[in-house]
Amino acid sequence: MKKKIFLMLVITSVYSFTLLSQNKYEKRANPDNYSAPVMKAITYGLTAPSPHNTQSWYIDTISSTEMLLYVKHQLPKTDPPSRQIHIGAGCFIELVSIGMSNEGYETQVQYFPQGDYTLNAYEMAQKPVARIKLVKNASTVKDNLYDYIYERGTNRGPYTGEMITPNEFSEMKNLMGKAECELIYISGTNEMKPYLDIFSKAMEIETRTNATNEETRYMFRFNENERSTKKDGISIPQMGYSGFIIKMAEKSLKNGDSITWHSEKNSKATMKGINKGIYSSKGIILFKTKSNTPLDWVLAGRDYARFNVAIAKIGIVTHPYNQVIQEYNEMDELQNQFTTLSKINHPEKIQMIVRIGRARSTYKSWRKMPEDYLIK
Ligand SMILES: Cc1cc2nc3c(=O)[nH]c(=O)nc-3n(C[C@H](O)[C@H](O)[C@H](O)COP(=O)(O)O)c2cc1C
Repeated sequence: MKKKIFLMLVITSVYSFTLLSQNKYEKRANPDNYSAPVMKAITYGLTAPSPHNTQSWYIDTISSTEMLLYVKHQLPKTDPPSRQIHIGAGCFIELVSIGMSNEGYETQVQYFPQGDYTLNAYEMAQKPVARIKLVKNASTVKDNLYDYIYERGTNRGPYTGEMITPNEFSEMKNLMGKAECELIYISGTNEMKPYLDIFSKAMEIETRTNATNEETRYMFRFNENERSTKKDGISIPQMGYSGFIIKMAEKSLKNGDSITWHSEKNSKATMKGINKGIYSSKGIILFKTKSNTPLDWVLAGRDYARFNVAIAKIGIVTHPYNQVIQEYNEMDELQNQFTTLSKINHPEKIQMIVRIGRARSTYKSWRKMPEDYLIK
């Protein structure tokens, strides 16, 4: 009898282990399938978050251990200076660094190795954001966040349960280690309320501004076939919806028909879902830098990515609400209110705004294959 129970336990653990390891690389390449360190590094980097899931990472592999990372000005209406695209580049670099620590490599980064560039699309395409060198180093230890790389994700569903406590916030910061940004933690129903109202208004502005709303439509994927083919972008299941609601909502969007997308009915339905999420926040974190240069953006990205993985380790989820800090005219007035409320003095800048809380896990977003990011 004892033997039988033991055997069943072994079978169950092998089965759950197999399931777990299968899920780990869902929609992600497995680093073990690559032998060149630089390709392994890309498999880790591509797990990073990026604005609108643009995955704006263009890679020139110089050798089996070195690469140049470029970005493209992919969201010119929503992100005119390409600040967020550079934050996404920082996220990629941080995931490379966390991942490669497990392979025994130290990740050395030279930022803007061919000098700064003016932020026009052509210069940006010609000069790299970073030169990344992977150095085999016997003293490299596995990053404390390595085991949680594949557990991170953006969670846009409503949050439930208790407020995030100051102890949990300290734990997050400890797990992240040294950060370039100052992390400002806002909690408590009354303290959060004016911020949440601003986030809601900012979202409404983004949705009702044709140019930015159109950019979202361009990055929206309207069914699973489109998601699995293009392997990027955002979509209804990524908004935290599940089950038959996904099918209903996708049907009502008529494959992205522009009249339906920009209609009053769609704006109202979008805002209803958005507000449900916003007002369920269990805490807010602002990522502040002392200045606002492209290097600040990339370093803020590294912090955001570390934060993102660190919270996965302690079972907390997050959702960025960056609309109010975006740099286009329609947002100016509300942005001034936000700057006053958060006591930001020029040239300081809030680089990322996130709500945090607790929620069940949601749909995992797609990523392209490592080869797709190579400049050919
Ligand atoms: C710089 C930056 C800005 C972002 N801003 C927002 C945002 O304002 N709203 C939002 O819902 N998601 C935002 N995101 C999250 C991305 O949409 C998300 O990372 C991407 O869709 C990939 O999904 P994943 O994080 O679940 O892997 C942002 C991500 C980054 C890196």
